[in-house]
Amino acid sequence: MKNILIYLGLIVTIVALYGFAFTIADQPADDGKQVFIDSKCSMCHTVTSAGITSKKSDATDLSAVGKDKTTEFLLKYLKKEAKLNDKDHKSTFKGSDEDLKKLVDWLLTLKGE
Ligand code: HEC
Repeated sequence: MKNILIYLGLIVTIVALYGFAFTIADQPADDGKQVFIDSKCSMCHTVTSAGITSKKSDATDLSAVGKDKTTEFLLKYLKKEAKLNDKDHKSTFKGSDEDLKKLVDWLLTLKGE
């Protein structure tokens, strides 16, 4: 009887730890998505893979933006310190550097589908 209780306790602990680790691993992505929504990026951008739809008919879909971009580039591009195809981005990110980092981390998880 005692053994069964120890066994059950062990399982509960493992499940709890697993859930905990999973939550932490998931955090930056969710934070970045929230920054994206709060920063009104969705005014001009659709992210089909994340369930974000822009009202703009010619919105650029960012579902695969993480495929060929780097952190360094996106950090600069969103502050208009770097150009893409010789063009500045339409808007400058106005939040904190911390939020920008979260946002970029999330963008880099978008690799299509
Ligand atoms: C006023 C409209 C507008 C807003 C607001 C806006 N963007 Fe953009 N964004 C554009 C346009 C236009 C382009 C260039 C589209 C293209 O590549 O054809 C672009 C391009 C991009 C690209 C590069 C896409 C590529 O071609 O690979 C990224 C990344 C991006 N935007 C992220 C963001 C993020 C993050 C925000 C919110 C902080 C944001 N944008 C807000 C209009 C906007």
